[in-house]
This record gives sequence, structure tokens and C-alpha cells, in this order.
Amino acid sequence: MSYKAEFQYSMDDPEGFWKDKANALSWYKFPENILSQDEQGIYHWFEDGEMNTAYMALDYHVEQGRGDQTALIYDSPVTESKKQLTYLELRDEVAKTAGMLKALGVEKGDRVIIYMPMILESVIAMLAVARLGAIHSVVFGGFAPPELAIRIDDAQPKVIMSASCGIEVSKIIEYKPLLDKAIELASHKPESLIMLQRPQARASLIEGRDYDWHILMAKVQPADCVPVKGSDPLYILYTSGTTGKPKGVVRENGGHAVAMNYSMQAIYDIDVGDVFWAASDIGWVVGHSYIVYAPLLRGCTSVIFEGKPIMTPNAGAFWRVCADYQVKTLFTAPTAFRAIKKEDPDGDLFKKYDLSKLSTIFSAGERLDPPTQEWLMEKSGKPVIDHWWQTETGWGITANLRGIESMPIKLGSSTVPSPGFNVQILNDSSEQLEANQQGYIMIKQPLPPSCLTSIWGDADKFTETYLSTFPGYYASGDGGYIDEEGYVFVMGRIDDVINIAGHRLSTGEMEEVIGGHHSVAECAVFARNDDLKGQIPMGLVVLKAGEDIHNDTLNSELVQLIRNTIGPIACYKETHIIQRLPKTRSGKILRKTLRQMVNGEEYIVPSTIDDPVIMDEIEDVLKSAKVINL
Ligand code: COA
Ligand code: AMP
Repeated sequence: MSYKAEFQYSMDDPEGFWKDKANALSWYKFPENILSQDEQGIYHWFEDGEMNTAYMALDYHVEQGRGDQTALIYDSPVTESKKQLTYLELRDEVAKTAGMLKALGVEKGDRVIIYMPMILESVIAMLAVARLGAIHSVVFGGFAPPELAIRIDDAQPKVIMSASCGIEVSKIIEYKPLLDKAIELASHKPESLIMLQRPQARASLIEGRDYDWHILMAKVQPADCVPVKGSDPLYILYTSGTTGKPKGVVRENGGHAVAMNYSMQAIYDIDVGDVFWAASDIGWVVGHSYIVYAPLLRGCTSVIFEGKPIMTPNAGAFWRVCADYQVKTLFTAPTAFRAIKKEDPDGDLFKKYDLSKLSTIFSAGERLDPPTQEWLMEKSGKPVIDHWWQTETGWGITANLRGIESMPIKLGSSTVPSPGFNVQILNDSSEQLEANQQGYIMIKQPLPPSCLTSIWGDADKFTETYLSTFPGYYASGDGGYIDEEGYVFVMGRIDDVINIAGHRLSTGEMEEVIGGHHSVAECAVFARNDDLKGQIPMGLVVLKAGEDIHNDTLNSELVQLIRNTIGPIACYKETHIIQRLPKTRSGKILRKTLRQMVNGEEYIVPSTIDDPVIMDEIEDVLKSAKVINL
């Protein structure tokens, strides 16, 4: 079938289309309600189906005779260790780990927070929670205790699963002090904490609350899969919004499983037994979808890499892994390619390895800039495909559907809408724009399977944030255009969310933290372009009257404050003290104008500015700090 025909089928008969795709999975009871709406008008897929995601991803394959096939490959240059698990071994480990959680009282619908590095046990933990019909919420290891505390209070986990440390190249990050601090800060107290002791750092355990993972495992019985409804949540994953409070994206079991399995075939052209590697982290949506669930649902082999694209030990790390394990498809973020390009501009390390099995390289997390895309295609000789994603959707909204029909690659475009996504470009009056005109990227409802159906604990916020801009549409928060051939160009966020090394962070949240410093009256945080990480934040600060603090001192205090409150991944490093912030007459800070100024773009000062002289004052400060050229 051509892409056009496949896409059209998904538009003309969404229920028929997705029912077909659902047939590829093994349900306990196949759904009768393929698409339904609840009292609030929210769409749900496969609501009355009965299933278990971990069963579909593991037990089913064992039953099909794939028990001896490798399910997971763990490769850890930072610990110099490697390990592989077959489907049978993984199923048994997951069943025992589920037994351990069950022994601690975890039942269907309970939440379990997983705060772990890139090791096999993290994937096992996620699947074990799913096996019990409980709901996991994985928190990325680079978040600081207050961020973890916010998630503990919101998700209210019965149990937290963790490891004694993560390893950042050669730096050991001890997790236990961070966890203890987070639990102290949170109002909700989990009943138990299960700690995997790694040899690089041993955590001290609190009697009565903390348990040693291996000691508990030695005593437990494996647990069976617990059937859930298609519309029961599989996980909550928090993502930054425009405010200080992250949003808990709720993903339902049924739609997720169907979309994951379909996308492996349709987008990535991956079949049973192929090796797929998403070089991301299980703390992000790409990790949930394409390190854990999609490859296993499809019966493939997935790689878990505890390392970086560079420094572990060099910029050939990705190519070494691809060659060692015969990876067919590699998927990572543009920042990783830029890091490799910087270290190995001529692609010499690429040539060292036999990459004949590698067929395609996929990129997402931020727009793949054309120079990096061209460089990688030239050096690798492989198609390099950008596809556009969000935590909210769980899979590519636009992509080059290699398993259906390979489309010509256009630099700077994430290609065409995936089946099920009715992508439209609208203007302020909700009118559809013509080809090549930039506007808001909106998706007409119903969204296809796997997309979020709520914000955890705040259904109104879901409607307000995503569904109320233009009735009948989901607001992606991104701006861009569609060309005359239907190719989508995503040009960036239209809100105050920024993208640092493929990680989504909120400038509003950083402003809240900086505003809490005793010398600061007010501030603006916005993104500066960065050759490696795409964007990095910088802050302009107005001091309280009478405060006298040197710029360098204030900067180091704020850097530390952001690291301790949000985490090192915010990459906040730059502050400049100014006299006044530019605002409109109604008091709105002109962040966009500031961003254009520091990035050397042409900017027009809006006529609504309350005092145009302020921009000249700021320009002078930034010129003398060499942020902008003279
Ligand atoms: N736990 C604790 N700290 C972490 C962490 C984790 N899981 N991940 C990152 N950090 C820390 C880093 O150690 C660093 O701390 P530092 O300021 O003390 O040095 C900081 O957070 C920033 O990390 P990072 O953005 O990874 O920058 P880097 O300079 O260490 O590495 C790259 C640069 C390009 C190699 C790295 O950003 C990278 O691998 N990017 C790929 C991104 C990706 O996979 N995105 C997923 C979306 S698909
Ligand atoms: P996250 O939810 O953290 O994955 O971030 C999603 C956001 O990252 C999107 O809303 C976009 O702003 C950006 N993004 C992800 N992939 C792409 C892409 N291929 N092109 C452009 N922007 C992207």
C-alpha cells in the first residue's frame, strides 16, 4: 500500500484502520469499542479490551517460541560490562520483580516511581509494574530532589524503585541522598523504597522503609499478569509546561500497545528478530516507547546503552555498538550527532566499523538542523530521517514511513503526517493556512492511539492546555508550515518551553527559581542558540532596590540554585544584571524580542512596549558582556 492510501484509510475510517492494527496483538478479550468518548468528550481507544502490556511484550513471544531470542542487550562502557537477556530470561525476571512489588502491596492502579539509570533492572522494573496492572512513573536521573518531590506528591506512589547510583562518564552520582531529600520535601510518603545496590556506590538503607532489591528478590514468588482494560493507564510521564509545575502525561495501555507495534513496522520498517537501538534514556518518552515497549511488543532486540555519544570512550561509541550488535535502526537526538560531528568531523571513526547491517538513522527531540543532517548522510552513506515527536503523543506525529513507502528526504522537514494524525496549520482565527504559510501546528481530533488522554489528577488542565485553543483540535504548542507536497516543517515552540539537548525544560520554571533568590526583584529567562545543545537558557535579572551583588557572584549562586532545584540538565550557566526588563504596557515581558536580540536575529520592538529606551540599555549591557557583537 502507498503512503497516500494508508494515510487516507486512517482518515476515512479511523476505527476500521486501528481495529486492523489492533488485530496484530494478543488480547485477552479483543475490544468491541474501538473508539469511544467519555462524559467529558475525551476520546479513548480500545476502552473495553482486556489485556496486559507486559504479557503482549514478553509472555506472548515466549509462547510463540521466541523464548531463546535475545530481548535486551545491555552495553555499559562506564562500568565496562555487557549482558544479554533472552525473552524467556526477561519474562522470568519481570515476573519475579512483579512478585517483589506484590509482596510490598502493589496492586492494579497503584503508582510506582522508578528513579534509575540505564541498566537492565530499570527496564525490568517498568515491565514488572505493568505486569501487575499498576502504573509506573519514571523520573529521569538528572532531576534534582525538588523536581522528584513534585512528582512524588503528584503521583503518590506506594513504592519507589531506585539504584544506588548513576554514572555520568566517570562521575558517580549517588541517588540515595537525592531520594532521601526528595521524600523529606514531599508531603506524600511512599510506603517502601527498593534499592538496587550497585558496586560503584552502596546506599545506606532506612530500616522499615528501604529494602535491598536482591535480598527481597531472593524470597519472592513470581507474579502472574493482571488483566487491565485498554483505557487503564500504563504510565504517567511528567513533562515541562509553561509553569513551574510539570504535567503528568497519562498513557493508556490499549492505544499505546497498538501504536507502538504499528509504528515499528510502518515508520521504522522493523520486524521480529531485528535489532533496534534508541540511544536515549528510559527517563524520556523516546526511552519508554523505543527502548522498552515498542521493540519488545514487536518481538525485536533492544539495546540499553549506559554511556554517551562521546567520551565513552570516544565519538565512535555509537558506531561500535551498531557494529557489535548488528543494529538495523539507530534512533537518537540531533545533539548527539552534533557532539559526534564536533569530535570526528571527517567521520574517521565511522569508517572503522562494519555498519553494513545499519539501514537507517532516525532523529527526534528537536529539529534536525540541515547541516548536521547533510553531514551525517554524507559520512555514513545512510538515510538520516528526522521525525517530530512529543511526550504527549508517544510516537512520531510526522515521519518518513520507511515500512510503507520511503519518501524523498527534504532537509529541515520531518516529512509527512503519520497515519492517524490529521495535522493542520491554523492562524489566530483558526483558519487553515495555505501551503508554505507559517502558523500554529494543530492536530484535528480524534488523535490516534497512544496520545495522552489526561493530565494525571487534573483532567481540566488537559482540556484547558491542549483542547481549548481551537475547538476540535489538539494544540501541539509548536509552530511551522506544510509545503505544497505535504511535507511538514516544525520550526519551534510557540510557548516558553525550550529544548536543551533534546530535553524539554520550562523557562517559566527557571524564572520561578531565580525569582526566589534574595537579591532578585524580577527576571526573564529565554533561550540562546547553542552549537551543541540546540538551545541553552540565559537569564536577565533586575536586582531589588538597594541590593549590591557582583554579576559573577550572582551568576554562580543562581547556577547552583537551578542545579539544586531543577537539576544539572537545565544547563543554566549565564546571568546578566540589567536595570529594567522590557515589557508591554500591559506588563508582559518581551522574551521573544530578547531571544531574537541575543541570537543575532532581526527584531522589531513591538509598538506596545512601555519604554523603547530599555532595549538600547539592554543591548549595551549584552554588548559589553560580549553576548552580542559590537
Ligand atoms: N543523572 C545525573 N546527571 C545527569 C544525567 C543523569 N541521568 N544526565 C545528564 N546529567 C548531567 C550531566 O552530568 C551534566 O552535568 P554537569 O553540568 O555537572 O557536567 C548535565 O546534566 C548536562 O548533561 P548533558 O546535557 O548530557 O550534557 P553533557 O555535556 O554531559 O553531554 C551530550 C553532551 C551531547 C553528549 C549529551 O547531551 C547527550 O548525550 N545528548 C543526547 C540527548 C538525548 O539522548 N536526548 C533524549 C531525547 S531523544
Ligand atoms: P518532548 O516532549 O520532551 O519530546 O519534546 C517535544 C518537543 O520537542 C516538541 O513539541 C518540539 O518542540 C520538539 N521536537 C521534537 N522532535 C522534533 C523534530 N523532529 N523537529 C522539531 N521539533 C521537535
